[in-house]
Amino acid sequence: MPPSQVVTRCTLTLRLAFHVQCNTLHPRHPGFWKMLPVAVWVALLGCLQAQELQEHVSIILLGATGDLAKKYLWQGLFQLYLDEAGKGHHFSFHGAALTAPEQGQEVLAKVLESLSCPKDVAPDRCAELKGQFQRLSQYRQLKTPEDYLALSKDMEALVQREGLREAGRIFYFSVPPFAYADIARSINSSCRPGPDAWLRVVLEKPFGHDYLSAQQLAEELGSFFQEEEMYRVDHYLGKQAVAQILPFRDQNRKALDGLWNRHHVERVEVVLKETLDAEGRTSFYEEYGVIRDVLQNHLTEILTLVAMELPHDASSSAAVLQHKLQAFQALRGLRRGSAVLGQYQAYSEQVRRELHKPDGFQSLTPTFAGILVHVDNLRWEGVPFILMSGKALDERVGYVRVLFKNRAFCAQSEKQWVGDRSRCLPQQIVFYIGHGELGSPAVLVSRTLFRPALPAGSWKELEARPEVRLFGRPLSDFYAYGPVREQDAYSTLISHIFHGRKDSFITTENLLASWVFWTPLLEGLAREAPRLYPGGAENGHLLDFEFRGSELAFCLQQPEQLVPGPGSAPPRPSDFQVLRATYRDSPLVAAWPEELIAKLADDIEAAAAKAVQRFGQFHLALSGGSSPVALFQQLAAGHYGFPWAHTHLWLVDERCVPPWDPESNFQGLQTHLLRHVWVPHYNVHPMPVHLRRRLCAEEDRGAQAYAEEISALVTNGSFDLVLLGMGTDGHTASLFPQSPTGLDGEQLVVLTESPVKPHHRMSLSLPLINRARKVAVLVMGKLKRDITLLVSRVGHQPKKWPISGILPDSGQLVWYMDYEAFLG
Ligand SMILES: *[C@@H]1O[C@H](CO)[C@@H](O)[C@H](O)[C@H]1NC(C)=O
Ligand SMILES: *[C@@H]1O[C@H](CO)[C@@H](O)[C@H](O)[C@H]1NC(C)=O
Repeated sequence: MPPSQVVTRCTLTLRLAFHVQCNTLHPRHPGFWKMLPVAVWVALLGCLQAQELQEHVSIILLGATGDLAKKYLWQGLFQLYLDEAGKGHHFSFHGAALTAPEQGQEVLAKVLESLSCPKDVAPDRCAELKGQFQRLSQYRQLKTPEDYLALSKDMEALVQREGLREAGRIFYFSVPPFAYADIARSINSSCRPGPDAWLRVVLEKPFGHDYLSAQQLAEELGSFFQEEEMYRVDHYLGKQAVAQILPFRDQNRKALDGLWNRHHVERVEVVLKETLDAEGRTSFYEEYGVIRDVLQNHLTEILTLVAMELPHDASSSAAVLQHKLQAFQALRGLRRGSAVLGQYQAYSEQVRRELHKPDGFQSLTPTFAGILVHVDNLRWEGVPFILMSGKALDERVGYVRVLFKNRAFCAQSEKQWVGDRSRCLPQQIVFYIGHGELGSPAVLVSRTLFRPALPAGSWKELEARPEVRLFGRPLSDFYAYGPVREQDAYSTLISHIFHGRKDSFITTENLLASWVFWTPLLEGLAREAPRLYPGGAENGHLLDFEFRGSELAFCLQQPEQLVPGPGSAPPRPSDFQVLRATYRDSPLVAAWPEELIAKLADDIEAAAAKAVQRFGQFHLALSGGSSPVALFQQLAAGHYGFPWAHTHLWLVDERCVPPWDPESNFQGLQTHLLRHVWVPHYNVHPMPVHLRRRLCAEEDRGAQAYAEEISALVTNGSFDLVLLGMGTDGHTASLFPQSPTGLDGEQLVVLTESPVKPHHRMSLSLPLINRARKVAVLVMGKLKRDITLLVSRVGHQPKKWPISGILPDSGQLVWYMDYEAFLG
């Protein structure tokens, strides 16, 4: 209703209120004027409420004439219109681009003409709605900030003119990321709706290239938009089978409660295979590769939907997002051995041609990857999650498959099982994303498991298809369901944006958590040469891979003829090489980081075996910080013979923070080592920095307590092995230059002051460290180059360079340095 009519209607109501008041009380009555305002307000409010205005939503599609818009987004907007227009919503659609108005209008008209009607809408009804949709959709050239201001004015005018209430504005960024900042600035400064209406901006990937770039982009966008205003699209979350994972888990809670865990799940596979290659897209692909293109986003999102704890209320966006984030935090860090990489043979040639590279150019970009992921929590401990994707493979298919352990042994031959629900058949739940044998999305549950519940209106049981076999079994082995109406992912997501369902989108925290997970692996693999494969069915078993412990490896050796010729790939610097020399008159082991860590881990294991054999126990004191993390991981993953049950773990130093603080050295030890090995609890000795709800107070005598614990358990206070680092200022443990404590004297454990935060520390003293049987100093990274050089020349000056005070009384000192620290 136009505003003028509302005013008339409400004036009438007021007159009526006055009239009623006159009939109830005489105007001379003392209460008449006092009561009148109340009556007036009640009438006015009631009137305005009854006139609740219809809501208007403006949708602005930026990049309206681009490929994504033509192929999916306009169709999705039309679907939204079909679904919502009948429910009393008003819309206007603005297709925007840089193209000049006449030209843009022409392109847009063609796109709108080509929109198709869904099967479940009657043709003439659809034609009518399509006509309406076309009239509501206008092309606009949006180039300058003034253009945005004019758009905003026009939207306001439209709402006024039609007597509507503005509910919100949706800006869909279907533009390259480099254009994001300018558009975001213009929207923020001139296109925000009034205070009662919402703003939603929809962003398309890529959301960065690694953690840092993602963080920069997120920070920039965050300066223009609130977190709740941003909708980052991962269109896989709109695929029907993927969108069904959480509802399926929710509706089948009872059946799944006992099954969805490490006791029953054998493994989880998240797979997206493509037959196409990257031809024509190599300029994009060369920069991204398969991991950034598919695994970091789509497959990781799907993995978290399977792995996350199901919130009590699965329809709560906030709860889902929070639980998803927790799933990210439980992912075990990836190592180089967690991945196998491939590249289809024609790829480098395509890159040379399309990007004008010299003849000998050989790309290292992977077009195939298999990754082994572990989720470190009680539910999933030990269950392998396999992510796999590639181009130029033998089939196009996407699925998530949860394979259950099978403990049954069947005495009868398979022939007897047919038609029978033998316990020996594989037990699996599959979310079939699309393509492949089935050709459409589906949810499949082995008949040996349970009959699942699916939402009746939108999913139905699939018809029998005797010709179809999935994972080696006929379709009849499964309870199989497909969507009643197949819907494109973008249509689903556009509807979710309209309804504000944020759980179908990637939050900033979620995005950064994913990059935290993937970036170290991507960096570690940057120079790794992928295995070449011919493509298509010819790949044979070349890309099959298997687990060996916690590592992945191709099943077959690399066949000779596929290896690129000498000189075509850059030389790998990490050919196994360990240099032995001396440093400060003590033995030095120098190597590339990976080999260095492997050597140190071997040496520690050897020392442990020797100590346990001689004394029945091994006392190991470990430093915190970042350098030992790789060592902890190596010890946790590769050293099965390590006598953990007889090992005592001590800390060399600790920051004065509570043990749950991420800065805590003990926390690092816990995360990277203790979670993965079986050290008895009474053998683990954190430093008592947190006593009586305060940190490192002298009066609490934490240092003395730790010294007493050491004296009580470690013979002669002589650790079997102490692992140290070296700071760029020459500090070691938490013994800092120019700080007198701990460098000499009787005290075994001391409180010290660090020049950097957190300032307060607890540390083993130099005399105690020097009593050890063996001291290993690990120095890594080029930042350490200068101090390494300096310390090689100085004498015994612990007050200036505490590290120079490391001189075991009767034990051995060994330096472990990577080439960057040692040679620069
Ligand atoms: C966004 O707009 C608000 C209001 O106009 C303004 O105060 C703020 O500085 C803008 N943000 C940026 C990063 O320009
Ligand atoms: C402990 O110290 C004493 C005296 O210094 C020495 O005789 C003894 O061998 C040491 N014990 C061990 C186990 O090292």
